[in-house]
Order: sequence, then C-alpha cells, then structure tokens
Amino acid sequence: MKYSIALIPGDGIGPDVIREAQATLEATGTVFGHSFSFVSVPMGGVAIDATGEALPASSLAACKAADAVLLGAVGGPAWDHLAGARRPEAGLLGLRAGLGVYANLRPARMFPALSAACPLRPEIVASGLDLLIVRELTGGIYFGDRGRSADGESAWDTETYSRSEIRRLLTVGFDAAMKRKRRLCVVDKANILESSRLWRETAKAMAANWPKVELSFMYVDNCAMQLVRNPGQFDVIATSNMFGDILSDEASMITGSIGMLASASLGDSGPGLYEPIHGSAPDIAGQDKANPLAAILSAAMLLRYSLKLEAEASAIERAVVSVLEQGYRTSDIATGAAGETLAGTRTMGALVVKAIKESGK
Ligand code: IPM
Ligand code: MG
Repeated sequence: MKYSIALIPGDGIGPDVIREAQATLEATGTVFGHSFSFVSVPMGGVAIDATGEALPASSLAACKAADAVLLGAVGGPAWDHLAGARRPEAGLLGLRAGLGVYANLRPARMFPALSAACPLRPEIVASGLDLLIVRELTGGIYFGDRGRSADGESAWDTETYSRSEIRRLLTVGFDAAMKRKRRLCVVDKANILESSRLWRETAKAMAANWPKVELSFMYVDNCAMQLVRNPGQFDVIATSNMFGDILSDEASMITGSIGMLASASLGDSGPGLYEPIHGSAPDIAGQDKANPLAAILSAAMLLRYSLKLEAEASAIERAVVSVLEQGYRTSDIATGAAGETLAGTRTMGALVVKAIKESGK
C-alpha cells in the first residue's frame, strides 16, 4: 500500500529525531512492501521565522490531506518573547484543534533493559510499569477564555468542559481499559473544581456500558504522589488536558527518561497526530545527542492507529527493544553500567533501522 505522511520536524531537536523516525518508517516499508510519501510541513518557530505564523493555513491543509502526521517538537527561547497567541506552542494547539484530535494516548511502559534508568527504588517497580494516560487534548484550560485586566495587575485562564467533550474522551479511556487490564482511573480535582465534578458525574453515568471495567477516581495531587509511591497500581488514567500534561511528564521519568515516551492523538475521523511527549531541548539541538526513540516509537503508534499496520508497528517496537538489549544508550538513558555503549541520535536511529531489516516481517 501507499501512504502519505506529513512530517513536522519543528524546532530544536525536532528535526534530529524526525529524521530517524522517518528512516525507521522507510525501513518498515521496505520490509513489508509499503511505500510512504513524505511531505515536510513547517510549523512552530521555523514557520514563524519563514512566514510570521506558527501554523500557516497551508500547513494545516497539508496535514489534513495526509494519512497521518508525525511531529518532532516546537518552541524555544528564540520565540519566548512573543505574545501567547503568536508563540510556536499556539501553532501546536491550533494543529491539535484543527485536526480534532481530542484523545491523546500516552503509554508509559518500562523497558526491562532500562530498569536501571528508573529513578525509583527497584522494589517499587519490581512488578514493572505499564500504564496508559488518556489525556483530553482539545479542551479545558488550554483552550478556555484567558486574559488580563485593564490595569495588567491580574490575569485569568479558565477551565471549561462540556459533558460531550468529557464523554468522548472517557469513551476512549473505557475502550482502552477493555483492551488492557480493565482498570480505569479518572484523575481530577473534584474536591475543588466544578468541571471535575462534571467529569465524575459523566464517568459514573457511563460506567454501566463497560461493566467489566473497574472504574475509580483519584485527586490529581494524590495521583502525582501515587505515581512515585506505587506506579504499578495504574492501568489506564483518563484526565483533563492540563493534568494529563503534568502527569505524563512524571510518568515518563519513571520509565527512565522523557526521551522514551511516544504519543498518539486521535479524533473521530481524519489523520492522527503522533509526537514524542518531550520538548524541543534547544540546548542539544543539532548535536547528535537527542534520544530518537520517543519519535521512533511515535512512528510505531502511527502505523498501529492510523494505518492499522499492527505487525509493522510491532516490528519497530521489537527493534527498539533489541537495540536497548544490546546495550546501546543515548546519554539520557545511560547509567554508566557495564555493557552499555553510548550512542548518538544518528547511531541509535541506524541501529533501529538495522534491527528492523534483520528481523524481517
Ligand atoms: C506536551 C507539551 C505541549 C503541551 C506544549 C509544547 C504546548 O508539553 O505535548 O506535553 O503542553 O501540550
Ligand atoms: Mg507536556
């Protein structure tokens, strides 16, 4: 089959990691007999520099026309002086909203080969770590009314959720739980926030449709604590845009490094958006230091969710496991233990490509 992929390298280390993710997609295509056509789309700081806009209309149109979108990272100090609505990050929010990708799946899995990179004591993660954060992505405080008072002395950002926004996100959460260990924890701040109380009410009303899923609720502050106390208790966490942003960074670190976590953002129709959860790390951009595995694993999610190519997705994931088991480490996941070999971005990508080609279908 022939597939079209929109690539958004973006800023900082984005181009470094997208180059390697593209190479793994090409290798997978060679092995499985698919061809990918890639179109490079400007978005973020690079687009601001070239056109004055973080998300030019032509970029959104190119993404909508593709089968899936793979994004590196956006933002950096060069654009920090810009007003909120003109920043690179606003382009990313515009893209998420424009594609209607309201459900952001962020799996946090600990690769056994990386257990030494986990900052928690070994007995805390003895049973491994494999959880999925389902983050609402196109609503809440990220998109609510915000502003400054006339005198500039106060500012506000508002969290608004409609029942239908909550319901469609929780549907993804319940369905995901059915395919996993059948436990769904809705994380909120229902002791304070009215919007959180609507999340709880909606979840309880939906629970009867998924009788096999064990539904629980947790306050976000407790969840942040439980994630380091006993992360093995979680299966699927469903939560709002901002809580999901924060908790997924925390969960990623438990797996060893934020450089390992991939994500898929899905809507009801149209192309999905795939991105590593890490940022643009401008301090190491272009230096062959970035860990490309989160972007490579995002490419695997792209194959799985948008193109329905499960065997191809697994081939990439197996290749990543094999490279890690051979001891190769970018600096973010290196511990200095015997048997480790430090590798740069390009070497890591090339090793994954080699493993895909060697293991075949
Ligand atoms: C993420 C990032 C983004 C977010 C930023 C870059 C806007 O932190 O994808 O987690 O907050 O959603
Ligand atoms: Mg984040």
